[in-house]
Amino acid sequence: MNKDNSSDHIPLSVPHLDGNEWAYVKECLDTNWVSSAGKYVEKFEARAASYVGRQYGVACVNGTSALHVGLLVAGVGADDEVVMPPLTFVAPANAVRYTGAYPVFVDVRPDTWQLDVGKVAEFLKEGCHWSGKRLVNKKTGRTVKAILPVHLIGHAVDMDPLMALAREFDLVVVEDNAESLGAAYRGRKVGSHGLIACLSFNGNKVITCGGGGMVLTDDRQLADRVRYLTTQAKDDPVENIHGAIGYNYRLTNMQAAMGLAQLEQLDSFVARKRQIARRYQSELAQVAGIVHQQVAGDVLPSYWLYTILIDKKTFGLDSREVMQSLRQAGIESRPFWHPLHSQKVFADCYSFNVSAADRLYREALSLPSSVGMTDAQQDRVIDLIRSLGSASGSKK
Ligand SMILES: Cc1ncc(COP(=O)(O)O)c(C=O)c1O
Repeated sequence: MNKDNSSDHIPLSVPHLDGNEWAYVKECLDTNWVSSAGKYVEKFEARAASYVGRQYGVACVNGTSALHVGLLVAGVGADDEVVMPPLTFVAPANAVRYTGAYPVFVDVRPDTWQLDVGKVAEFLKEGCHWSGKRLVNKKTGRTVKAILPVHLIGHAVDMDPLMALAREFDLVVVEDNAESLGAAYRGRKVGSHGLIACLSFNGNKVITCGGGGMVLTDDRQLADRVRYLTTQAKDDPVENIHGAIGYNYRLTNMQAAMGLAQLEQLDSFVARKRQIARRYQSELAQVAGIVHQQVAGDVLPSYWLYTILIDKKTFGLDSREVMQSLRQAGIESRPFWHPLHSQKVFADCYSFNVSAADRLYREALSLPSSVGMTDAQQDRVIDLIRSLGSASGSKK
């Protein structure tokens, strides 16, 4: 790519503002359309929805709020349970708790690192029973209401069998597609399967509004309900009559303007992320002790963050030691999230068979994956990892 920034700090994942961001945001400022109404909000919603293959999009202040209202309109409420992976950023689990429901943590697959649909089936078939029309978790006595597949780091959960399970057990599916915008599963964009899918436009995501999120659905009534709840549930906006407990969750026109400019570049960003991933794959393929994520044959990942597993026994160093050495060289990397099932705040949540998540947490390290990273910068990352492996006597 472009110039060699060899003395520079190499960040994990930073925004790439290379399109109409300035022009669109300036137009908002010039025309005084800076708040939560305006043409950019509508354009951004329509374009994001059609990109993913959805009928409706409702923009929100962030991905967490999108998940919160998405779960609410899907019918999740107090003392229900929502099946989700323990290996994820905390936001979807927090969103479940905001509704008064509880996550049930079911393990991820050791190869693709995504929610293990086979274990979800096992939990639903063996860990639950029907009480009238209620599917009840035998251990907690709570009603299982929904599945929340989190598509991790640009890859995808195996959605067809998951949707079949949801139909069999009468569960709603709310997809967390914060990390996999642009990825595809069996020829369809990820985020187009569940009743609802949620996006994040946080600063480190594939595209960003600074902060932002969106609820996507094909159901008109649900989209209207999301719009209503995210704008304080106003039945009469003049007299200020409210028909529900609402939220101030709407995205501003300025942020949507930036989001639209970013969305216009999404395909090229994803193409660049794929290039970065291919280079990491080929250049680190021969390094003993480094394990790459398995891509399911029916998934075309968007590679939001390229992540490797480091097997200390073979590589000689563990993921944290490698992270430390990279940091000393000005290179940012990051381990996976501490599994949620072993965090104090979720101690009262049920977990089912979560050993793969624990191992991945110990071994995973996400590497710099910014769209604007140069080849020379990526070479620095690759060379250092290789030399760490050989210096520590990694075994072929
Ligand atoms: C899987 C996942 N879900 C939800 C979120 C929350 O999005 P936001 O930060 O926009 O609230 C994030 C990241 O931030 C995420 O990685």
